[in-house]
Amino acid sequence: MKSVKDYIRTIVDFPHEGILFRDVTTLFSDPRGFRMAVDQMLHPYAGMQIDKVVGLEARGFILGGAIAHQLTLGFVPIRKKGKLPGATLSESYTLEYGEAVMEIHDDAIQPGEKILLVDDLLATGGTAEAGIKLIERMGGEIVGCSFIVDLPELGGRKKLEELGMGVDVLCE
Ligand code: PRP
Ligand code: ADE
Repeated sequence: MKSVKDYIRTIVDFPHEGILFRDVTTLFSDPRGFRMAVDQMLHPYAGMQIDKVVGLEARGFILGGAIAHQLTLGFVPIRKKGKLPGATLSESYTLEYGEAVMEIHDDAIQPGEKILLVDDLLATGGTAEAGIKLIERMGGEIVGCSFIVDLPELGGRKKLEELGMGVDVLCE
């Protein structure tokens, strides 16, 4: 039987020379692969109280939307700068191949809400750290950070664990 990892392809030199890009579109486009990934991401959180799912742009929207729907919860997007229409909070961050700013609507999370943070991939952890800071600035309590892929050599998991986060990944 195929595992989640078997559905993910690697594109060499994207978006820059030297980067091995883990492409999850081939996982998402397969009905068994997509279902398997969502089910496995949910598994560690069975029976836990979660109030909202927060997804990181862009592939975290696909996964976070599916997970929120499965749990009958609301979904909140964290987007790249300038995309959200309402008043926002911002955090800048660095990632494997650049720098960027992430934003969240300033009324999207209420103090004390329990949040599951979702993205496809953990590399340096810069993107997820920006998401964690935004959620915590709004008083959200993060119950876990869930990813399909971890690239351990880039240190993201260690960074998030040092911030006190629970981190779940499906494959390396
Ligand atoms: C990728 C990936 C994560 C982030 C991980 O997104 O989907 O969000 O990089 O890298 P990090 O752990 O080093 O921060 P990308 O920045 O390529 O943006 P996109 O999903 O909008 O294409
Ligand atoms: N985000 C940062 N590094 C990445 C990689 N190697 N593959 C896919 N997404 C990424």
